[in-house]
Amino acid sequence: MKTTQTNEADSLKHQSNIGRLDDVDIHDWYRFVYAFSDRVITGLVDEFDIEQEDLIIDPFNGTGTTTLAAKKLGIDCIGTDTSPASVLSARCKTNWDVDLDDYRDRRADLLATVEPIFKQISSQGNTTLDSFGNQDSEDVDLSKYDFSEPKKTPKGWLSEKPLKKMKVLKYHIEKLPDDDVTDLFKLAMIAILPEDVGNVRFGPEATRDRKQEGDKDVFTIFKSKLAEIEEDLETVQSAVESGDLDPGETEVIRADARQLAKTLREESELLNTDKHNGEVDYLITSPPYPAEHDYTRNQRLELIWLNAADDNKDLQKIKKANIRSHTKNIYVADDEGEQVDIRENDQVDSIVSEMEQIIVDEDISHGFGKYYPRVIEEYFAGMQHHFEQVYDLLAPGGKAAYVVGDSGSYWQVEVETAEILGELAEERVGFEPPEIRLWRNMAATTADYDDIEENILILTKPEE
Ligand SMILES: C[S@@+](CC[C@H](N)C(=O)[O-])C[C@H]1O[C@@H](n2cnc3c(N)ncnc32)[C@H](O)[C@@H]1O
Repeated sequence: MKTTQTNEADSLKHQSNIGRLDDVDIHDWYRFVYAFSDRVITGLVDEFDIEQEDLIIDPFNGTGTTTLAAKKLGIDCIGTDTSPASVLSARCKTNWDVDLDDYRDRRADLLATVEPIFKQISSQGNTTLDSFGNQDSEDVDLSKYDFSEPKKTPKGWLSEKPLKKMKVLKYHIEKLPDDDVTDLFKLAMIAILPEDVGNVRFGPEATRDRKQEGDKDVFTIFKSKLAEIEEDLETVQSAVESGDLDPGETEVIRADARQLAKTLREESELLNTDKHNGEVDYLITSPPYPAEHDYTRNQRLELIWLNAADDNKDLQKIKKANIRSHTKNIYVADDEGEQVDIRENDQVDSIVSEMEQIIVDEDISHGFGKYYPRVIEEYFAGMQHHFEQVYDLLAPGGKAAYVVGDSGSYWQVEVETAEILGELAEERVGFEPPEIRLWRNMAATTADYDDIEENILILTKPEE
């Protein structure tokens, strides 16, 4: 924690950065349903008086909202996540040093390569177009492509022709050199997959949307996404060049938040610079909470197209690195709850006991319900491990803000997530008494349960 007062020049710089970049929505390159608004970050940066010499981390960085917001404010930030799709997203959004001439040339080549193939695919089975003898399509040889549906694609999420086009796109993008321009093409490819090209609806869980089925103009959709990226990069690059914007340094690392300190000490360059000297000043994040949100399902198409979900083994690798927050990522060997005696905490014990009683009373022996008590135990134990890592990284006086929802997902047993996390952080890890403030009420998913609170839990590491 830096002791210097906020100096006027610094705060003015923040203001001008925010104003200037308000309309630059790099955030929209790729987002997912669990993303939060960058206003959470700008609000907390103002409230905590975070300065440009500070370092922020977001250990559950998702698609990269915090890392991008911090960069725009001129503040250094490290983001970590377990999802390869989210890591790619956050890296692309915060790498503004891309050679745009190279980007434009290679985009033109890529689009010229796929356009006739897409046309050919669209016209397949369409006798009028076939018999027209489209000039381009005569040269198109479709036989070299593998059009089979990837194994882990949920049923009906991609219609036949869009699936073929996306496989062609993947094939040609994978032939390109492994560099930052190709990463932008990959990001554009995964960004358009679920809702623009596929038949997926998020509510918030991902489900098949039959109304979307049929062929799609993948060429135009992809081209527009690439144009959006180009336009935003032009804007930030000229703002940086003219000196109007002094962006923060960012680093995005794939890491399990329960091993945060260990991983960052080994892998982060930014943390270990003279400027930051191995210490983090602030943490701003929105972690998972006990609810049936399966991040690997909501990002399933993206993960498949990045070759990160070819089979169950791949998916398990990601799920096992995740905080246990739903019944599909509970494993026989999980024992974090036991390791830390999580039921010694009265609130956790009372929730788990209530659930165990329901299992007995209702004679629940199969289905996912029987795992509910374990989700609660493993979740809070995992978060305790995470808090220990954060305590280790934070400078004395450093603050950590968690935007986290309460839960009534499991037989409507009330889980006051922020309250319990705050108690664990204080009693078991050594943080100061927590502050919890209501951020918003979310509509509950069942009619007979009141709105569910989403809170901001604020932890402070004591000054030495
Ligand atoms: C609520 S989302 C964060 C969304 C983010 N604020 C945004 O705007 O995109 C929670 C994230 O935590 C990640 N996650 C879950 N368990 C994790 C773990 N053990 N370590 C790091 N990330 C994890 C998930 O992949 C997901 O991206």
